[in-house]
Amino acid sequence: MTKRFVIALLICLVTSSIVFAAPDNALIQSNGNGMAVSTHPLADLAGQAVLDNGGNAIDAAVAVGYALAVVHPQAGNIGGGGFAVIHTADGNDYALDFREMAPAAATRDMYLDEQGNVIPLNSTRTYKAAGIPGTVAGMSAMLDRFGTKKLDEVMAAAINLAEKGHPISERQAGVLAANHNKLSKFPTGRKYFLKADGTDYKAGEIFVQSDLAETLKRIAAEGPKGFYEGKTAELIEADMKANDGLITREDLAKYEVKWREPSTAYYRGYKITSMCPPSSGGAIIAEILNVMENADMRTLWAASPAQALHVMAEAMRQAYADRSEYMGDPDFVNVPVAELTSKEYAKKIYDRINPTKATPSDFVRPGLTQLHEGTNTTHYSVVDKFGNAVAITYTINETWGSGAAVEGAGFMLNNEMDDFSIKPGVPNVYGLVGGDANSIAPFKRPLSSMSPSIVSKDGKTILVVGSPGGSRIITTTLQVIANVIDRRMAINAAVSAPRYHMQWLPDELRLEPGNGLTNKDVEELVSMGYKLSLQGFMGDVNAIMIDPETGKITGSHDTRMEF
Ligand code: DON
Repeated sequence: MTKRFVIALLICLVTSSIVFAAPDNALIQSNGNGMAVSTHPLADLAGQAVLDNGGNAIDAAVAVGYALAVVHPQAGNIGGGGFAVIHTADGNDYALDFREMAPAAATRDMYLDEQGNVIPLNSTRTYKAAGIPGTVAGMSAMLDRFGTKKLDEVMAAAINLAEKGHPISERQAGVLAANHNKLSKFPTGRKYFLKADGTDYKAGEIFVQSDLAETLKRIAAEGPKGFYEGKTAELIEADMKANDGLITREDLAKYEVKWREPSTAYYRGYKITSMCPPSSGGAIIAEILNVMENADMRTLWAASPAQALHVMAEAMRQAYADRSEYMGDPDFVNVPVAELTSKEYAKKIYDRINPTKATPSDFVRPGLTQLHEGTNTTHYSVVDKFGNAVAITYTINETWGSGAAVEGAGFMLNNEMDDFSIKPGVPNVYGLVGGDANSIAPFKRPLSSMSPSIVSKDGKTILVVGSPGGSRIITTTLQVIANVIDRRMAINAAVSAPRYHMQWLPDELRLEPGNGLTNKDVEELVSMGYKLSLQGFMGDVNAIMIDPETGKITGSHDTRMEF
């Protein structure tokens, strides 16, 4: 790298950290009835009202999930899917998989042309990009098993917000304007999310969603049958048929959630309960933290941020290489989670780190064999006064999914099929590559990075955390966890601290505008061989912390609000 380039990089990285650092997040205090923290204040209120009325964290989580589908429709959804990690007051942990499933007519090469080339935007901007939605089934599965309130009661706030409308926020107006072309592409995107004259809603204007309100009422009255059968299913099938989509009423009727064994990792004596496959989140967080556990990260951060970052980035590099090769839907492929998350494997990765040199990603391969021989998702967190905790990340994949909504039903469709490996080695919208383990097959679930997580110590919940951000979800979530454990930060500091990201390919260490690095740190990283890439903010964490000594609950939104 030339000297001039390094100097330019230094100026850019360091000035940007002064000008654009992520604003500090305010610490939220609990009113004594637990807490619901999501990306939208109206959804927080919906959850808090349920908690204040004696509901538990699961009741409140369902209320927040439906409210976000109304007030944050670019990610909150009933047309997508996600994962919940639940800790119950009796000390048990559960993982609920309500990820979308590929429709019956899906095929391995469905997004390729006859020459085997990827057809641009076919897996993202079409009705064919949608998997069978799982959110409605997921919300009811959770409520039926652990809730104490009726579905119509916890959905009342969402129905009201859809029927009477809510004021468009500054942030929402910005996201609508930024996605104007995408939403204009399909008649339903235009009809439901642009004004009648084709212009964007402005901040302060009231946004009413009457068709969505009717769909929500059918769900509130009939449960999942109000979505997977009857009128809503007919509307979905009709719109799919009219637009070359694949989902049929039979597909909807076959959708099922899965209760799975959550992933468990131990980091310096803290237990991290997170999502298992078909999310890669829990296992990849575990793999990276296991490597970091070999170093004294607290001392490293204080002495040399560049060295701390080096350990973390090298761990991330190997873990994302492994993700690309080994991970997929566990109902279809065997995922070697135990091997990937073993302390022995992590030690081998750690021992291979050269303290003065970054490993070029070209030299890193998915490693088990070798080492054995040699724009949109949203996360929310809820705790109650009874000791239950819920972490939920759910999504329609990109911001506003494919840009299409269901005619007559008023909700956005996901474009989650792009999370499959549509062709080996071809990156998805997050730059992630994959192979056979994550190939498309009927009723298979695409591999995810969503990482709703609950951290506990000696049986006590101390942190509920997660984030959107595509491939950055995993690294964002694990850094908030490490900030709390290694750097002993309060929750708002842990959430606002700069984030760093490395995902094997492309071979670059991604930095935020406010990256906190000094000239010296940057020089050190560049001399080790890191290619530094300054991009936008990463993640939108909504987290809750519980002080193990006092039981005091505090929370934090993420003022970055970027994905
Ligand atoms: O499941 C996944 O990993 C992706 N579909 C998540 C997408 C996402 O986070 C986009 N948001 N910023």
